[in-house]
Amino acid sequence: MNTTPLTQTHNDEQTKGHQFFQKFSSFFGKIYTTESNPLYHLGGISVLLFTIACISGIYVFIFYNINPRHAWSSVQAMSGNFFNGWMRTIHRYSSDLLVIFMILHLVHTLITSKYKRLLSWVSGIISFLIVILIGITGFMLVWDQKAKLVGYLTARLFSTLPIFDPSIAGAFFDE
Ligand code: HEM
Repeated sequence: MNTTPLTQTHNDEQTKGHQFFQKFSSFFGKIYTTESNPLYHLGGISVLLFTIACISGIYVFIFYNINPRHAWSSVQAMSGNFFNGWMRTIHRYSSDLLVIFMILHLVHTLITSKYKRLLSWVSGIISFLIVILIGITGFMLVWDQKAKLVGYLTARLFSTLPIFDPSIAGAFFDE
């Protein structure tokens, strides 16, 4: 029979998780001070990246043509313009980094047992899923061959659920 008190096991787990994270973050300790180490601000950095992705997203949306026949050419035209091309780049890099930082934040929360704050954990998981969904739909907006393939595969995945009709996947085939 295990005689270790529950609270002690819990503390041991916390210490191991924290120790592992501290070892990992000390790599950056050579470059950053403890206060400026990005690994101690994963949630804050994610919020900042989300804000940048939304502001740049609203900007590129002004020049984006929602008609599927013209979507790709409108994205191409943006890349051909110096400033709009930069805004597209900012949108892409901020959204990619956002996903990376959210995953790091999730792993940090798991290994340091912070998921026990249930409300924060549940809201974090919901935010993560929403960001992944916005990312996939954003990727489809470009409407090139890669985007159509991602759209087709996502629609196929969703059509396994009884609330979605399998014909939706057909929308991603070329006319
Ligand atoms: C108010 C919020 C947002 C708006 C209005 C918006 C709008 C757009 C538009 C119009 C495009 C297509 C044009 C282009 O590719 O340059 C796009 C692409 C994209 N968006 Fe967003 N977006 C928003 C937020 C986000 C967020 C939070 C993410 C984070 C995951 C995201 C991820 C992407 C990705 C991955 C692309 C494809 C970029 C590329 O390959 O060029 N977007 N978005």
